Amino acid sequence: MEVLRKSSSPRGLFGRRGFLTSAGATLLYTAIAPHALPRVATAASLGDYPFTLGVASGDPVSDGVVLWTRLAPRPFEGGGMPHQPVAVQWRIARDEGMRSIVQRGAVLALPELGHSVHVEVEGLQPSRWYWYQFKVGNETSPIGRTRTAPAAGTPEAVRFAFVSCQHYAQGIYYAHKHLSEEVLDFGVHLGDYIYEGRATSLVGRPHLPDHEITSIEDYRIRHAQYRSDPYLQAVHKAFPWIVTWDDHETENDYAGLAPENPADPADNQPDFASRRARAYQVYYEHMPLRAAQLPTGPNLQLYRHVAFGDLLSLYVLDTRQYRSHRAPANCELIERLDGYCPPALDPSRTIQGAQQQAWLLDGLGRSTAGWNVLANQVPFAPNDTNADPLVRTFGGEKWDGYPLDRQAVLDLLAARGRPNTVVITGDVHQNFVRNVPPDYVRLDAEPVATEFVGTSITSGGDRTLSTVFGGNANNPHLRFQDNHHGYVRCKVTPNLWMADYRVVPSVVQPDDGGISTLASFVVEQGQAGAQQA
Ligand SMILES: [Fe+2]
Repeated sequence: MEVLRKSSSPRGLFGRRGFLTSAGATLLYTAIAPHALPRVATAASLGDYPFTLGVASGDPVSDGVVLWTRLAPRPFEGGGMPHQPVAVQWRIARDEGMRSIVQRGAVLALPELGHSVHVEVEGLQPSRWYWYQFKVGNETSPIGRTRTAPAAGTPEAVRFAFVSCQHYAQGIYYAHKHLSEEVLDFGVHLGDYIYEGRATSLVGRPHLPDHEITSIEDYRIRHAQYRSDPYLQAVHKAFPWIVTWDDHETENDYAGLAPENPADPADNQPDFASRRARAYQVYYEHMPLRAAQLPTGPNLQLYRHVAFGDLLSLYVLDTRQYRSHRAPANCELIERLDGYCPPALDPSRTIQGAQQQAWLLDGLGRSTAGWNVLANQVPFAPNDTNADPLVRTFGGEKWDGYPLDRQAVLDLLAARGRPNTVVITGDVHQNFVRNVPPDYVRLDAEPVATEFVGTSITSGGDRTLSTVFGGNANNPHLRFQDNHHGYVRCKVTPNLWMADYRVVPSVVQPDDGGISTLASFVVEQGQAGAQQA
């Protein structure tokens, strides 16, 4: 949708501050979309301040990044915009004061996409900070900061953090507040960005609207409510984000085109495919994603590859859209020495879908990156949930529920002979560190990868805190388990991966209790498995 770059623009269209002059704007819009001009709303007709949801950037590459905003003067009433395209200007600079502008342009924010704006900037320098801003009429957005990825051939250190599960009603985003103050190159959101259910709140943050969301308007209001939080806006403003979803962006525990409760009419409005289409569209509207992620009906290709020089190769996974329905619930009750009942071992069951699996195996198989990262939703390593050490129980809606699909990935990792894969995971609202064994039978065998599971930002609310180091008879590959809230901060160099479990004491107290590092783990290059630092 981008219509103009500085390099292609005649002189005189832009004022001293880098935005279009009004004469320039008229000239530009007449030139680019004469048919649309009568329908382009003027800034004066918008009424209130349109940048209530802040700004964001994402999916950095070595020469560019995606810039995002959404015009919503009345965010909790569906946006409050006229049903017309609106012209939005953007500019990107080398300095915080926006004096050294390197590019600028204008796009149309369309009512069909909730007046969201996605600008794919190209032609930037690698490994650099940039600042960006939007303007509509006389209103300017907050200034966001972003950063390009390192170029290939430069194995630099990279710092990032990953988060998941930010239930708005269940706590205050203290973790985001502290995260926004960290010095990081990017963030990764592993899903449960919103929750779809109705929710009352112990902290004065009940969900809007006050029911389970199913319509476009509902999903927009819920995303807008989350995005109105100043701490969440701060983390988006601080650095670029690479996002993927889990289930709650659409519906709890859905699998492919099967809702949580296929028999419940409330889950199917009028059918689950159309509900999924609405949820996916509104997710796209609110995230800094590329046009490649524009949804088509109930489909949105979210799995993708993001590289940080030669150091980090990130495979962003989608384990919801293509998965088979979970194995029958009573499956988990059948006690077997191998931990599985026969339906779970049906080779046609998949958590990734055939296409994504082929893409992942091909990418991992050919990768020469220092570290391969699976940006993943649900726990990947086996987790025996049976308290009896002689009997195993695996299953559920984690990778444990799709053992043969996981085995294809494990076999490839074992065959590669380069144990430099790290899985980063959300979903379970607790911290775990697990060495990833080569299969679900030999949990104490030499690991083929390392998994860092990050706790929730708020989901689950405050609970009795518990922190346990080391494994046990059931799960000898476990290294750490904890249920604080927070995020995981990683510093990655060619030789060492350091993961700091950053935690907050409470998400419901009125006072922010600060942030601290509860535990740190390292993975050495060439040696899968984590050691406490
Ligand atoms: Fe969650």
